[in-house]
Amino acid sequence: MEKSVKLGLRLQAIAGMVTQHYDHIWDCCCDHGMLGMQLLEERRADKVHFVDVLGPLVEKANAYLSENPDLYPSGHWQTLCEDVAKLPIHKESLRQGATHLVIIAGIGGDLSVELVEAISDKHPEFNIEFLLCPVRQHHHVRENLIRMGIKLIDESLMFENRQPYEILHVARHGTEELTTIGSTMWNLSDESHYSYLQQTIAHYQRRLKSNCQKTADILEQYKCLLNEHSNINGIT
Ligand SMILES: C[S@@+](CC[C@H](N)C(=O)[O-])C[C@H]1O[C@@H](n2cnc3c(N)ncnc32)[C@H](O)[C@@H]1O
Repeated sequence: MEKSVKLGLRLQAIAGMVTQHYDHIWDCCCDHGMLGMQLLEERRADKVHFVDVLGPLVEKANAYLSENPDLYPSGHWQTLCEDVAKLPIHKESLRQGATHLVIIAGIGGDLSVELVEAISDKHPEFNIEFLLCPVRQHHHVRENLIRMGIKLIDESLMFENRQPYEILHVARHGTEELTTIGSTMWNLSDESHYSYLQQTIAHYQRRLKSNCQKTADILEQYKCLLNEHSNINGIT
């Protein structure tokens, strides 16, 4: 019997941010490939590419996809054992206006930045969209995306097992300015968002002991957000 994948909350939230159809979706650093499989089941792209640098993981994903052809019809997916920094997006496909969404989730912020930069640098003239969900280092990722001239399409904040995840849908031709601390994702009336903001402030307060001006600036930005919320809601 065909078995469709069951995603955890974080992967569900990422999949939920794919709201349009793409010609190509790249499930990068795919590991088990469950995110790409879900998007393939939902027919979110003509072709879903599963990419991971570890051969045995790619082989396992390949076997699962091949065994369930009704859910994952051949011709609509491929698996690749490759470093995402060398993602083989064809220039010709971009030139012809094909839409590409590159998803990078479940890896650290530093590596996420490195991979986005490598892909963007290879295709500077095209509007490749990225859906990113780094593990920690959210401020660092945002700062570097802004440095690369990348703009915001959508963002959200979610929690899985109490761990916060900021999910960023961005592109060079995004519609809004990306900010270092997040904008539309915040709902400070939600207790988990409020507590995440407080924890983030506490984190930078602890780091401030090193007397670093950059840390002080970041701390100030998060404090401003908290103050704005408190002023609007009359919290003293
Ligand atoms: C924790 S898993 C993330 C799986 C899935 N994306 C998720 O969010 O649940 C991280 C994966 O990234 C892969 N990886 C790390 N660096 C990579 C790179 N440069 N290129 C391709 N895959 C990479 C690892 O092999 C591993 O399978």
